[in-house]
Amino acid sequence: MKDFEDKVALVTGGASGIGAATAKLLARRGARVVLADMNAEKLSVVKAEIEAEGGMATIAVCNVTRDEDIAAAVTTAVETYGKLDYGVNNAGITGPIGPLVDYDLEAARSIVNIDLMAVISCMKEELKVMVPAGCGAIVNTSSIWGLTAGANFVAYTAAKHGVSGATKAAALEVAEQGIRINAIAPGFTYTPMISDQGLSIQKDSEAYKAGAANHPMNRWGEPEDMAQGIAWLLSDAASFTTGTILSIDGGFVA
Ligand code: NAI
Repeated sequence: MKDFEDKVALVTGGASGIGAATAKLLARRGARVVLADMNAEKLSVVKAEIEAEGGMATIAVCNVTRDEDIAAAVTTAVETYGKLDYGVNNAGITGPIGPLVDYDLEAARSIVNIDLMAVISCMKEELKVMVPAGCGAIVNTSSIWGLTAGANFVAYTAAKHGVSGATKAAALEVAEQGIRINAIAPGFTYTPMISDQGLSIQKDSEAYKAGAANHPMNRWGEPEDMAQGIAWLLSDAASFTTGTILSIDGGFVA
């Protein structure tokens, strides 16, 4: 299915996990994709994978905590492909994990900057292009912790609730202008965030089994599960859907 053939998409966090899976799916469906991430090496790998499948992608190395980097990534889309139809604001981190009384507040501020403020900044820059065009769709990556709460995840939970709220508020602002803004709320999803960074949970470990058991469907989400939800929210099939937070979590928050 090539239903995104004339579309241009910007994907932050596009070098890894959910963002990389989303970029690949959008490209397979015909979109030209701007991969935005701070990890230049992994960006090159994803770009090569997309091109090997016959897709089109370009790279914008950026730190989403820098507003000027986000503006430059949007400019890359417009200068390379002539427009911007879709924004997937997905880059994020998890830590610190632990009791609030032991919190490293600087690390907590950093999470709020990356996981929440960058999403607001991305939406602002994307809307600067979409509002004059009178069309566009944005999907932000929230979390189950953007709908419910997790002990030992105070900063992440606060940031992701912020993403859910910002998604709804921004959606209302531009609903009449033909622009839709939604979010996904993933359950535990097996990506490098889980396997390689901070958490270091390996498949077949007790922690992995316990993570699966948290979900009524008794499994982890895969990046492709999230990519499918994001693609649906971006697509014309969701043309009457805005301001919604789509749970993709095997029943976690049901
Ligand atoms: P990941 O670690 O595989 O990918 C995250 C990407 O974001 C990485 O490529 C990283 O380089 C990039 N990134 C981080 N900070 C950045 C910065 N300041 N500037 C530019 N790029 C930056 O992680 P994953 O799992 O794919 O996460 C994607 C999103 O999904 C995040 O927002 C995360 O909070 C959210 N999420 C993940 C869940 C999971 O269980 N993996 C569950 C719920 C939400």
